[in-house]
Amino acid sequence: MTPDLLKQGAQRVAERLEKTNTDTESGGREASYGRVSTPGEVDVSHGRILYLEDVSVSFDGFKAINKLSLDIAPGELRCIIGPNGAGKTTLMDIITGKTRPDEGQVFFGSTIDLLRHNEPEIAQLGIGRKFQKPTVFEHLSVFENLELALKTPKGVKASMFSKLDSAQSDRLAEVLHTIHLADSVLAQAGNLSHGQKQWLEIGMLLMQDPKLLLLDEPVAGMTDHETERTAELFLSLKGKHSLMVVEHDMGFVKTISDIVTVLCDGSVLAQGTLDQVQADERVIEVYLGR
Ligand SMILES: Nc1ncnc2c1ncn2[C@@H]1O[C@H](COP(=O)(O)OP(=O)(O)O)[C@@H](O)[C@H]1O
Ligand SMILES: [Mg+2]
Repeated sequence: MTPDLLKQGAQRVAERLEKTNTDTESGGREASYGRVSTPGEVDVSHGRILYLEDVSVSFDGFKAINKLSLDIAPGELRCIIGPNGAGKTTLMDIITGKTRPDEGQVFFGSTIDLLRHNEPEIAQLGIGRKFQKPTVFEHLSVFENLELALKTPKGVKASMFSKLDSAQSDRLAEVLHTIHLADSVLAQAGNLSHGQKQWLEIGMLLMQDPKLLLLDEPVAGMTDHETERTAELFLSLKGKHSLMVVEHDMGFVKTISDIVTVLCDGSVLAQGTLDQVQADERVIEVYLGR
């Protein structure tokens, strides 16, 4: 596809989005690429897309995660906060299959036991993860990075002939708009700002249409303006995807959060609205009052 066509596609998407922009709970933006669940794939009939119960893991006798129980509703945007070493990144390692817990249950929907799947399988099931450091292909353009994100092990054969079908082109244009990079489609990724690289990487995840997105400290190192735009971005994803966001920036958490979970010493210390957990003496002691 030529850049012109691509831009036209992005423009069409932008117009469509504007037309369907209503004041929904999720921030009003409609995005057709993200469906929280496809019937028969992830069973969320019990109201949970992710469910952990009594999960523990030790490293050399040190309990990094200790009887942790947590669940997330379909379409929810959950923020996870807590002091350094609380186990936030390890929690994401467990969900994505990078680390195996010593005990406990981890379910995706009510039927998929994630402990029976390895890392690539879990990604295929629809759990996308954004690490703290952006890992885009610096020498490739924004467009090429997003295109490349479609190349899954399953799809390699098809993508060798490297023409996006029209659904994929539409998706790409839509993702470009969502991540605020429609005007930078031909820019080399290495020339983007730190914040833009982070958005591009989120866009690469979105190309895979994940049901659950795990984001570890996504606004670290961003300018205030980039942080605000990232908050908008996340609010637009909520409802279409489920999100788990680890972040220390309380202003950001305040803007995006419904329910906040406070982790400490590998367990849930408190959970509630940000106001509720900020008023909790135990939370002030271990985290906020530092
Ligand atoms: N692979 C590992 N091997 C040994 N210790 C680890 C490993 N991963 C994490 N830890 C330890 O587990 C604890 C929790 O770490 P982490 O999950 O990174 O915390 P957070 O992300 O909340 O800052 C820390 O004490 C850390 O040193
Ligand atoms: Mg961490």
